[in-house]
Amino acid sequence: MKIAIVFDSRSGTTKAAAEEMAKMAVAAGHDATAVAVQSASSTEVAAADAVCIGSWTEGLFFILQHATKATMNFIDGLTLSGTPAAVFCTYKTSPGKMLDKMADALGASGADVSARLRSRGSGAPEGFADWLGSLGQN
Ligand SMILES: Cc1cc2nc3c(=O)[nH]c(=O)nc-3n(C[C@H](O)[C@H](O)[C@H](O)COP(=O)(O)O)c2cc1C
Repeated sequence: MKIAIVFDSRSGTTKAAAEEMAKMAVAAGHDATAVAVQSASSTEVAAADAVCIGSWTEGLFFILQHATKATMNFIDGLTLSGTPAAVFCTYKTSPGKMLDKMADALGASGADVSARLRSRGSGAPEGFADWLGSLGQN
């Protein structure tokens, strides 16, 4: 399966997490790339078999957390049709409701969002391997 992993990273943590996720996906037999949202093509992402989109958590640490504007603009600009999808974030204290908001927006763009994943550092989020497993091999 071709899996598009798109991330927004300010200081490298989310980039590292996304690259780890791409590595895991490749190790599981998929064709996966991690691309910064600033250089991602919505046409290419829409052509992937599965999509995973992540952002660092921006907010006031305990309240008002949200994905970055670049991430939300990218999600809003996608046109998908039932593509299996996941959203993820990296965070320090709490991501609040940001994953729900990302998932709602990605669902509104036509994705079938089945996972909301979080990582407190640069590792792949817990649950990513399960989401990969849910995709099957083709
Ligand atoms: C301006 C700013 C606001 C942040 N707000 C939050 C927040 O509300 N909640 C949280 O858990 N982490 C918050 N963080 C921490 C980052 O989301 C976290 O360190 C993230 O992993 C950074 O990812 P990056 O290295 O890819 O930029 C904030 C960081 C910055 C710089």
